[in-house]
Amino acid sequence: KNIVVLISGSGSNLQAIIDACQSGQIDGRISAVVSNKADAYGLVRAENASIPTHTLNHKSFASREDYDTELAKLIDSYQPDLVVLAGFMRILTAGFVQKFVGKMLNIHPSLLPKYQGLNTHQRALDAGDKEHGVSVHFVTEELDGGPVVCQASIDVAQTDTADSLAQRIHVKEHIIYPLVVDWFCKGKLTMKNGQAWLDNKV
Ligand code: GRF
Repeated sequence: KNIVVLISGSGSNLQAIIDACQSGQIDGRISAVVSNKADAYGLVRAENASIPTHTLNHKSFASREDYDTELAKLIDSYQPDLVVLAGFMRILTAGFVQKFVGKMLNIHPSLLPKYQGLNTHQRALDAGDKEHGVSVHFVTEELDGGPVVCQASIDVAQTDTADSLAQRIHVKEHIIYPLVVDWFCKGKLTMKNGQAWLDNKV
């Protein structure tokens, strides 16, 4: 299967997926990586793996719609089976999401439905949560609101800070995201009637 990955930053999840494609854990290949920021380190990771990269700077577009139209065109030029959002820090328009619904995944650093949006680690600390985690979900029009496919959790210690939580959660992210991408690529994972379905018989 052919995957396009969208990033805005470090791209450590992208790296985990690149590694899993190279090791054969994921039955697929990344045909392009697109960033909205030219200095995203994930672009270097992609180049090191000989994956074509593109920067589409949102600041050069008059509106969200214009940006998303151009982004969709760029993605379509690779005809991907799956679009993977890996730290892509943009709110997507309804039109864009509808175009890729059922074939677009996101990873969000909270145990959804808790803490949609930003600053999830601090919010978990402020709430006194004993447990925190990360979710992979299909993308729908509701921000961080699509059907959850897989979650991993960690225990929150008294001494934890937002940074220490982020670090431990990243370790989990790098395990579950390649796993879910592989399920999708093998045809085990689909979105039907607004729900995520995992068929282990496939
Ligand atoms: C991750 O924490 C992910 O959950 C969130 O953005 C971050 C991306 O990290 N959506 P990286 O760029 O993959 O290192």
